Amino acid sequence: MNKSLQNHKEIFIEQLQELLKIPSISADPLYKEDIKKTAKWIENALNEIGCSSVQIFKTRGHPVVYGEVLVSENAPTVLVYGHYDVQPPDPLELWESPPFEPVIKKSDLHPNGAIFARGSCDDKGQMFMHIKAVELLLKSNALKNNVKFVIEGEEEVGSGHLEKFITDHKSLLQSDIILISDTGINSIENPAITTGLRGLSYMEVSLTGPKRDLHSGLYGGTVANPINVLCDMISSLHDKNKRVNIPGFYDQVVEISDSDRKKMNQNGLDEKSFKASIGIDAVMGEKGFTTMDRRSIRPTLDVNGIWGGYSGKGAKTVIPSQAHAKISMRLVPNQEWEKISELFEQHFKSIAPEGIKVEVTTHHGGNAYLTPIDSLAYKAAEKAYSDVFGVVPHAKRDGGSIPIVPMFEKVLGAKILLMGFGFDTDAIHSPNEHYGIDNFLKGIETITLFHIYFSDLYKNQ
Ligand code: BES
Ligand code: MN
Ligand code: MN
Repeated sequence: MNKSLQNHKEIFIEQLQELLKIPSISADPLYKEDIKKTAKWIENALNEIGCSSVQIFKTRGHPVVYGEVLVSENAPTVLVYGHYDVQPPDPLELWESPPFEPVIKKSDLHPNGAIFARGSCDDKGQMFMHIKAVELLLKSNALKNNVKFVIEGEEEVGSGHLEKFITDHKSLLQSDIILISDTGINSIENPAITTGLRGLSYMEVSLTGPKRDLHSGLYGGTVANPINVLCDMISSLHDKNKRVNIPGFYDQVVEISDSDRKKMNQNGLDEKSFKASIGIDAVMGEKGFTTMDRRSIRPTLDVNGIWGGYSGKGAKTVIPSQAHAKISMRLVPNQEWEKISELFEQHFKSIAPEGIKVEVTTHHGGNAYLTPIDSLAYKAAEKAYSDVFGVVPHAKRDGGSIPIVPMFEKVLGAKILLMGFGFDTDAIHSPNEHYGIDNFLKGIETITLFHIYFSDLYKNQ
């Protein structure tokens, strides 16, 4: 580890813990003030390291924090994007320590300790690495790139207002590369650079049968029960090979070549530890594909939640009037999320039996994204990871989504580089989310080197 980081690591970890104490839950309006407080905290952090033009931009949703360090007109510009909002921490009772009271604990995969708190890995901890990397570079007079920070507060709810923000501030955000740490590596021994994200269509369905809940003795067997029907409809959305059974769903899918697929699977995942890490004894998914394939290059459909009728204590004999479900689809290149949402809606309505009214709404979505691997930025990142981790990182496609990513490219015309440092097992979105101290420090070091190598390669191209 370089000396300057060594000297600052304790304070950096303390600062991150401060940030993690603010419950910036974007989904819940009760936390609006905490969201504002977090934006202010970041504004202050950017000012402290020496950024200029630091500003909190209001949007129709949660604010965006901007700051920049401009070193020279001839230097390349790196736009750093991250998010300061976090997922709701529930179910609270499953947290071993409170979600907004960060503690450092050792674990099997983090022998040198990890910070346990909501947002530690996704994305406060990863976003903060960028601020600290730039701080170190500025301190040693080694920053040769212009850097612009865009830190938003709505990623976990679909980045609904960010497209307007970037469209309205196109020239302010002009850049050569967009750098994001909001993905992961397999392990410290086997790091990877993410070159793909899946897209997403997030739907909600509501079925209505009788106009009120009914006595299940008086009416049972005579009417379509919305929950029974919803279950039938949902189970018909996959065929026996676990392919998605919506006409047209696969039409735009670009199949990857056998050799790429082989390569991808060579760096694949150890199925035994995969199963152990989530407490299952068998995997399941689309026939003809590996677990690695299924969560990176294949589109999927999953129910995220289902409700209706009586689910309180004891028993109540009732035929519910309504049934609801939230259903998401992960998408791959070149599926278009608006089109897929439309196909879903058409199909779902078409399979409803008589006696049931169906309503379908789209929550949000975004397209899949692939990053180039022959760019200067990728080469600089590859070199930086190699230095810090001691091995050349391989390229991997991730299963998660960052819907704003393709939008960035479309509006700003710059490519994206995904330099993530979390582990899949860090429990993002789950109870006991954590982020390794090693991941955090190695991340800062890698980002620092990235900036140095990127400006070098840019100058010499
Ligand atoms: N950081 C994640 C996405 C991610 C995690 C990508 C790990 C690759 C590897 C991001 O914050 C996230 O959770 N995205 C959501 C989508 C959003 C619209 C709620 C997702 O993927 O579910
Ligand atoms: Mn994230
Ligand atoms: Mn997330």
